[in-house]
Amino acid sequence: MCGIVGGVAERNITAILIEGLKRLEYRGYDSAGFAVIDDDGVLQRLRRVGKVAELDQAQQQEPLAGRLGIAHTRWATHGAPSERNAHPHFSGGELAVVHNGIIENHEALRHQLKGLGYVFTSETDTEVIVHLLDHKLKMFGDLADALKAAVKELHGAYGLSVINAAQPDRLLAARSGSPLVIGLGLGENFLASDQLALRQVTDRFMYLEEGDIAEIRRDSVQIWDAAGQLVERETAQYHEGAEAADKGEYRHFMLKEIHEQPKVVQRTLEGRLGDRQVLVQAFGPQAAELFAKVRNVQIVACGTSYHAGMVARYWLEELAGIPCQVEVASEFRYRKVVVQPDTLFVTISQSGETADSLAALRNAKARTEGEGRYLASLAICNVGISSLVRESDLTLLTQAGPEIGVASTKAFTTQLVGLLLLTLSLGQVRGTLSSALEAELVDELRRLPTRLGEALAMDATVEKISEHFAEKHHTLFLGRGAQYPVAMEGALKLKEISYIHAEAYPAGELKHGPLALVDADMPVVTVAPNNELLEKLKSNLQEVRARGGELIVFADREAGIEDGEGTFIVSMPHIHDVLAPILYTLPLQLLSYYVAVLRGTDVDQPRNLAKSVTVE
Ligand code: M6R
Repeated sequence: MCGIVGGVAERNITAILIEGLKRLEYRGYDSAGFAVIDDDGVLQRLRRVGKVAELDQAQQQEPLAGRLGIAHTRWATHGAPSERNAHPHFSGGELAVVHNGIIENHEALRHQLKGLGYVFTSETDTEVIVHLLDHKLKMFGDLADALKAAVKELHGAYGLSVINAAQPDRLLAARSGSPLVIGLGLGENFLASDQLALRQVTDRFMYLEEGDIAEIRRDSVQIWDAAGQLVERETAQYHEGAEAADKGEYRHFMLKEIHEQPKVVQRTLEGRLGDRQVLVQAFGPQAAELFAKVRNVQIVACGTSYHAGMVARYWLEELAGIPCQVEVASEFRYRKVVVQPDTLFVTISQSGETADSLAALRNAKARTEGEGRYLASLAICNVGISSLVRESDLTLLTQAGPEIGVASTKAFTTQLVGLLLLTLSLGQVRGTLSSALEAELVDELRRLPTRLGEALAMDATVEKISEHFAEKHHTLFLGRGAQYPVAMEGALKLKEISYIHAEAYPAGELKHGPLALVDADMPVVTVAPNNELLEKLKSNLQEVRARGGELIVFADREAGIEDGEGTFIVSMPHIHDVLAPILYTLPLQLLSYYVAVLRGTDVDQPRNLAKSVTVE
């Protein structure tokens, strides 16, 4: 989704802006641009549809230089991807704005500003911000005062940055619903929507909070909070993530991230396992007391994170004996829900900035006693400084490290680990899980990184299997029990990056409709661990073969499913059934990756998608 980079320095910052945009490419975008104030005090701009590389090339052909500038990657919401809709947007020749988020009252503001004589050159909601700001600047004279007045009239979400040719020593920023971070340098300061964009220039960061307005100069930063009070925000040193910035030996970030899973699962477990027990305090000092009161769990998330929640439902009900509901955030946030007493509200998110998940959390927290309130909120999240983490009562940080590929891989498996730790903690504290089973699962969790490594060793086998899909247009994914959400995740991965239509079904549902689709052109992918549902699954597979369907089965090596005509078996390491969803995810990730490579798609930045969906 959209990205922002800005800076004010003694040196020309054009290359820093472009490098910052390149580092934000993983978020997904369709056009890019930047504006600088040059040494003659003139506001200059360059914008291009397509990749940052094209913007970079254009910049090399007609170089623009400046010591103050803002840059942006746009993911179209209002108005098609085009040069005139790309940011920065100007008002007159002096004022420029870049913006992430959506201004919901843009139509009313546009109407009002047109009445004041402003002429609009784009279809974006962002352009109302820059004209509104110009209007306020004429009233107040000072850019910070104008911004403070302008944001009061904006409804919706924004992370924005402004420069003004008439005040060329300052970079202004405002945050409400869309993250911004200030990067602190020596005699120069920067701004971005994600600190990854600024790792090239600094490792010291200051995170803006909701409602903050910042005035950033070369040697100072001033921040006003939502109430207009001058405030200090903490400075944090950033260590994590240096390794994430390059692909190393791998062709794509996605493949690198798939292969990182044994390591990041290990990190997610570190410090959270005792000898025979999960350490409940991993969820925070008050977790044990709170968990003892939990009688229900409500999980809310989007996309891959939602699938992690679906797996957790099987675990929570089976192992901890707690009723659990799971819902996609975009539905949950607009639904009138009935809250069961003592419900723990759990959000799951890689980024912690997904607009729907955040809105669902805020709705949940806003519930009053009378309407039925949640006992507490817990975020399972990969980004410690995210809004979701800051606004939740309890947190479990997954330790996946920055995930660059738009298709989520290591974030999912570390979420599953976090959710299993939650299940075991709830079972332990509430006395619903036997200590023998908890000890057995703790042991299994310790062995999990090794098992994941064994599954990844099948990389070449899966690559070979991927050839079956290169020319196909549709695929079915089947699983039973906790493997059904794994099948859903496998189908999501395949459609996201290979653009092949893929649907997942619980295998037992096949004969209730989807079997009609099965023929020789419809490969059916199945995950088959050796569990109590195996015999039933085998019958479902017979149903497919009998209709001429080609089967690709990821099966436990002891499952007794044989290779045969039209049946391709990939033998999986044996694993405890509870942990099987984590292990069986890996070959499905590899499968979608290799199919996408064969089809020549943009694996790390698939079309139309954004890494972090910060708008509705
Ligand atoms: O950052 P989040 O986990 O909240 O993101 C949720 C979804 O947008 C995300 O999982 C999306 O579905 C991925 N592209 C899946 O690969």
